[in-house]
Amino acid sequence: MKKLSALVVLIGLMGGVCEALAGPLPAYEGRRLFVSYCQLCHGVAGKGDGALAKRMHIHPADLTTTLRSRSDTILKKIITGEGRQTITGRDRHNLLSEAMPEWNNVFNDAQVEALIAYLRFLSTSRHQLMGDPEIGGDLYQKYCAVCHGEFGEGDGVMTKLVNIIPADHSNANEMNPISNDQLIDIIQAGKGQYMPAWKDILDQGEIEALVSYIRLLSN
Ligand code: HEC
Ligand code: HEC
Repeated sequence: MKKLSALVVLIGLMGGVCEALAGPLPAYEGRRLFVSYCQLCHGVAGKGDGALAKRMHIHPADLTTTLRSRSDTILKKIITGEGRQTITGRDRHNLLSEAMPEWNNVFNDAQVEALIAYLRFLSTSRHQLMGDPEIGGDLYQKYCAVCHGEFGEGDGVMTKLVNIIPADHSNANEMNPISNDQLIDIIQAGKGQYMPAWKDILDQGEIEALVSYIRLLSN
């Protein structure tokens, strides 16, 4: 018990140090852009059911199913509109209509890559985002990064002070087999000797937001 309260004091002390926010993670940053620029037509989960979709002649693509065969290069061209006329042959983009806007001068290269990372997440992840990952990201930096590290790699400052080995949240092989419900249970109840229980500190919505952020960390 003593050990635990010392730990809690330590976490309190380090909270300030860890507030500096993480650099942009591609899928996380991509989701932010997607919500601003793309969900109107494609819907927040990319299924082609955004608010504008019903009014459009040409239905916005269901990005959860159409993207698997597209390379990053082609996706980049689709998003920027660059080379709409020049992509020929087997690639269908030369048939994509003008209903899909060209974002040529809107995004820089890093932003296009971030969007693509999020599109890949939408089309490959078995797990839905349940809450707002931006809220989750803030909470993560505040409460979790001390152990799990700024980018979830399991290398938080605590690991240098105490002999603990937190899960690596950036490892898709480790994280994908765990369902959203299981993650919620672990965060609520804690795990093993050093993963604290958060049920008295965070509410359901906050925990769901954290789960969403953790999903984007491993993508
Ligand atoms: C004004 C509505 C609208 C907005 C906003 C929009 N799209 Fe589209 N998008 C479409 C439509 C419509 C299609 C299908 C075009 C067609 O089939 O001719 C499409 C197709 C696509 C495709 C091709 C899917 C495939 O593989 O066939 C991608 C990728 C895509 N959009 C990504 C995006 C991204 C990323 C954004 C935000 C930066 C975005 N879209 C914003 C309407 C939109
Ligand atoms: C005091 C250090 C510490 C803090 C703070 C902490 N964790 Fe953990 N966490 C761990 C350790 C250690 C494990 C591995 C537990 C085990 O497997 O025995 C773990 C495991 C997990 C797991 C399980 C993953 C798996 O593979 O089993 C999740 C999910 C998780 N933590 C989420 C969080 C979230 C979200 C926060 C912040 C709200 C947080 N943790 C804060 C130490 C911590």
